[in-house]
Amino acid sequence: MEQKEDKLKEVISHAKEYGFVFPSSEIYDGLAATYDYGQLGSELKNNIKSYWWKSMVQMHENIVGIDSAIFMHPTTWKASGHVDAFNDPLIDNKDSKKRYRADVLLEEHMEKIRLKIEKEVEKGVKRFGDDFDEHQFRATNPNVLRNAEKIKEIEDRMRTALETNDLEGVYQLIMDCEIVCPISGSRNWTEVRQFNLMFSTELGSVAGDASTIYLRPETAQGIFVNFLNVQKSGRMKIPFGIAQIGKAFRNEIVARQFIFRMREFEQMEMQFFCRPGEEMKWYEYWKDTRSKWHKALGLGDKQYRFHDHIKLAHYANAACDIEFNFPMGFKELEGIHSRTDFDLKQHEQFSGKKLQYFDPELNQNYVPFVVETSVGLDRMFLAVLSASHKNEVLEDGSERTVLSIPPALAPYKVAIMPLTKKDGLPEKAREIIDGLKFDFLCQYDEKDSIGKRYRRQDAIGTPFSVTVDHETLENNTVTVRDRDTMEQVRVNIADLHRMIDEKVSMRTLLV
Ligand code: GAP
Repeated sequence: MEQKEDKLKEVISHAKEYGFVFPSSEIYDGLAATYDYGQLGSELKNNIKSYWWKSMVQMHENIVGIDSAIFMHPTTWKASGHVDAFNDPLIDNKDSKKRYRADVLLEEHMEKIRLKIEKEVEKGVKRFGDDFDEHQFRATNPNVLRNAEKIKEIEDRMRTALETNDLEGVYQLIMDCEIVCPISGSRNWTEVRQFNLMFSTELGSVAGDASTIYLRPETAQGIFVNFLNVQKSGRMKIPFGIAQIGKAFRNEIVARQFIFRMREFEQMEMQFFCRPGEEMKWYEYWKDTRSKWHKALGLGDKQYRFHDHIKLAHYANAACDIEFNFPMGFKELEGIHSRTDFDLKQHEQFSGKKLQYFDPELNQNYVPFVVETSVGLDRMFLAVLSASHKNEVLEDGSERTVLSIPPALAPYKVAIMPLTKKDGLPEKAREIIDGLKFDFLCQYDEKDSIGKRYRRQDAIGTPFSVTVDHETLENNTVTVRDRDTMEQVRVNIADLHRMIDEKVSMRTLLV
C-alpha cells in the first residue's frame, strides 16, 4: 500500500516539475480537488481527446460529434432524474471527522477479501507448480469458497439496501463488516445520509427557485436534448451515435487521489441510439470496441479489467466499468451503460415534445434505446501518465526517469538539438524545425550537455531527439535517438519526416 502511495506521490511531483499538472490557484494555497493542466499537460490532454474523437467520429460513418452548452434548462435535470436521485450515500467517522462514501467503504472491504482469495490462489500455484488446476482450486478450496461466499453476501445486502434507499441497512452492513475508519481506526460512525452531487447557481440577477440552474454533472444530457436536431439535420439512420467531449461538475463528497476524482472534470461520452431490443448486442459491441481502444495504447493488457455494476444507476438495465490499474489499485476508468429509452422518454414527458424516430425498414415510430460509453479524460490522463512513468537503471549503472508515453500521445514529438551554440549549428537546427513544425510539435534545445538534454526529453516523453553536428553541415545527416531503446542512428534529414510520422501518427493506434 505504502509503495502504491509513493508511486502516486512520485507521479504527482513529476507532473508538477515538468509542467503537466499544477494545483489550481496555487499562489492562494490551491483549491481542494481542482487542478490546472500546464504546458505539457494540455498537449497530452489534447492528444488523448484527438485519439478518442478520431476513433469515435472519424472512424465511424454513423457517429457524429457535437459541443453543447454546460448550462441547460433546469427541467433537463428534473427529467433526467438527477435532481431527485443523483446522490451518494455518505457517512462520517466521529473520531477522525472524515467523510466517506458508504458504498466505497463496502467496495474497498470486498476488494480486501478478493485479495485474500488471490493470495490463496498464489499459494496454490507455489505448492502444486505445473500440476496446479486453478479452476478446480477456486471451485473447491474451503478458504476461497468461504471468502467468495462472504463477498456475495455483502454484495447482495448492499445492492438491496442501495436499491431500496435503505440507509439504515447500509449502516448496519458497515457495522456488521466491522469496517473501521482508515484514519482513526475506529468504528464510531454517524448514520448514513444521502447527498446530492449537483452544483447549482443563479441565472441572471434574480435569486430564487425559478432561476436556479445546475452545472451539468454529465455531458450526456446535452446529447439527449439534441437527439432530434442531429438526427434530422444530419439525416442519421439508426443505429447511430452522437459524441461529445466537455466539462462536467460534481460536488464529490470525497475528492482525492489527484486528478482521479475532481469536482470539475472532463468527459468523453458517446450515446449510441439503436432499435429497442437490440441494445444488448450493441452493449457487447461497445464493451469490446472500447476495450480494444484502451489496449491499443500498449500500456499492458493486464492493466485493464471489466467490473459489472452491483447497483445500477436509475437509468440503466446493464452497466459495467472498464477499470485500470492506477497507482492506487484497480479503479473505474470508463463506464459502459445500457440506458434503455429512459432519458428520451423522460424528456418527451417533461418537454411535451416527441423524441421519436421513424424507422423506414420497420415502417414504425419508436423511442430509440441507448448504449453509452463514457470515459473520464482526466482519468485517461492519469492512466497514461502513471503507467508511462518509469525509473530505470541503465547498463552503465546510471539512472534515468522516462515517460514512455505512447508516441502518438506524447506532447513533443521531436527535440532538435545543435551540438554547440556556434558554427551555424543552431541555424541548421532551426531550418530542420521549419521543415517539421507544420506536422509535429518540436522543441528546440541548445542548453547543457547532450546527455543532460536527452534526460530532459526522456522525462517529458519526447519519442525522438535529433542532434545536429558538424557532419550535418557537410552531408545533411543527423543523429536520431530513440527515447525507449536509447539507440542512435544516423539519418538523412530528408528521411526525418517519414521516420517520425511512422512512429507518432495516430494511425498506429486506430485499429
Ligand atoms: N454519463 C454517464 C456518466 O457520467 P459516470 O460513471 O458517472 O457515468 C463516467 O462517469 C466517467 O466519468 C467515469 O468512468 C470517470 O472516468 C469520469 N468521472 C466521473 N466522476 C469523475 C470525477 N469526479 N473526477 C474525474 N472523473 C470522473
